[in-house]
Amino acid sequence: MEIPVDKPILVTSALPYVNGECHIGHLRTYVPADLYVRMLRKMCYNVRFICGSDTHGTPIVLSAEAQGITPKAVVKRYHEHFRQVFKALNVDFDYYGQTDSESNHRRTEEIVKKLIENGYVYKKITKQAYCNTCGRFLPDRYVEGKCPYCGAIARGDECDQSCGKHLEPGEIIEPKCKICGNDAVFKDQEQFFFLLSAFAEFLASYLDTLGGTLNARNYAREWVKKELRDWCITRNLDWGVKFPGRDDLVVYVWVDAPIGYISFTEELLKGNEDISWDRYWKDDAAVIVHFIGTDIIYHHCIFWPAMLKGAGYSLPDAVVASGMVKINGETFSKSRGNVVWTTEFLKRFHPDTLRYYIISQSSHTKELDFSWNSFAMRVNNELVGVLGNLVHRVLTFAHKNFAMVPEGDIEEEIFVAISKRRDEAIRAVEEYEFKKFVDAVMSLADFGNRAFHRQEPWHLIKKGEEGKARCGTVIKDVLQLLKAVCILLEPVMPEKMQEMWHLIGMESDVHSVKLDELLVPIESGQALVKPKKLFRRIEL
Ligand code: 2FM
Ligand code: ZN
Repeated sequence: MEIPVDKPILVTSALPYVNGECHIGHLRTYVPADLYVRMLRKMCYNVRFICGSDTHGTPIVLSAEAQGITPKAVVKRYHEHFRQVFKALNVDFDYYGQTDSESNHRRTEEIVKKLIENGYVYKKITKQAYCNTCGRFLPDRYVEGKCPYCGAIARGDECDQSCGKHLEPGEIIEPKCKICGNDAVFKDQEQFFFLLSAFAEFLASYLDTLGGTLNARNYAREWVKKELRDWCITRNLDWGVKFPGRDDLVVYVWVDAPIGYISFTEELLKGNEDISWDRYWKDDAAVIVHFIGTDIIYHHCIFWPAMLKGAGYSLPDAVVASGMVKINGETFSKSRGNVVWTTEFLKRFHPDTLRYYIISQSSHTKELDFSWNSFAMRVNNELVGVLGNLVHRVLTFAHKNFAMVPEGDIEEEIFVAISKRRDEAIRAVEEYEFKKFVDAVMSLADFGNRAFHRQEPWHLIKKGEEGKARCGTVIKDVLQLLKAVCILLEPVMPEKMQEMWHLIGMESDVHSVKLDELLVPIESGQALVKPKKLFRRIEL
């Protein structure tokens, strides 16, 4: 999606449930979103990037129950954990909030009241799973049974292992209590519903204008074509945002979680005199882009815009949905031990190698199948073999023979090659094709390698003054290419590119360098240091 330069942009990443540690499957949403934001900033857009912890719902309460601690304690522990992980990976949010904040409670209450006032919420007696042994209702993940659509084992709110359908309370077949394992029964209970069915026409035309990736739009369109069933938006839980006027019910976590996007914008911009949160969420004055995983397309492309529309808020402009992550061809599973924990990973490998792998391994909307072998191959062949080698060879030679960026003019063909990759990179980002982005930049490194070898500077340097001058121009050309690679790869590997930036004699901060710097000739006379290796080979 091409964005008008004068509009502010709000980029959000799906809020992680803070019920356990971060695994590399989580990162498929955050790392590309961070790349996207960094690149937009290089293109001079005014971007704000927000996220936060999803602190309510049964994922948290069940985790608390299993550990014998309070939901608040679970939230505190893993909220901090996720913050640390994002920091370590340089996923640089402008604001990272949590959905149990006072302002999110307030905003949720306001929106739910607005929906009630506008006639989009009604009361109904429903059948809810209930455990006679535990003496309680079993919302969402408290219950397991068979999916009414495909027959696979499913949890109360979603067929998570098979067809992926959202399940309404009371729909699951042969329910069993997750706490004690006994059969559950269905019992009458009054709940509140959101009149989603009233939004079918609106959603059909909204989806025609929605930007982002095709997988999100197409999947959502299928749902609108079939049938939109009303959503039960209350639960029998203590932990959560109270439904207005009812002390015994909280709102479903999928109501207050996306509202977090609004509250976090509000929390971020508190006291900001230039722009306030409602420019983003009330006046349609900004572009809103959501980064999510394919498993939550329904929530973001159907439920969320309907809720915003019903309450009179601005609508998201784009939904970018990443494919899911597998490990060695199998789905992630904590219980089966098929999981790679991010902190364990980062104890052994540099965060930028993980960022690079996630972005380059498969295109954003496709599944990513992680294996140690494919990780090692990418690092060894591309980062060590192509980029690291080029930097090391060129800089060792340049340092030994010149000790600084040599004199000379840069060949026109160098600027042509850079402009071509810059345009490809911009197009790739606008199309959310982050793999193509990396491939375009890496092909520039490859071009640099070929230019260096073809012109054999190690022979030129031996051919007197004239040879040395000619050699200097070759080196300067390649240094210009390295400078461009460094700027364009900063959104992928921010730390390593800062290191490389210094190696080529630049003193500024590469994170804040804009794209127009790509065509500014590298300055002769900048001191070059003896280079150290940027990347380490990985032995399996
Ligand atoms: O599926 C999940 O992990 C949710 N916690 C995502 C919430 S995103 C947003 F809507 F809040
Ligand atoms: Zn039970």
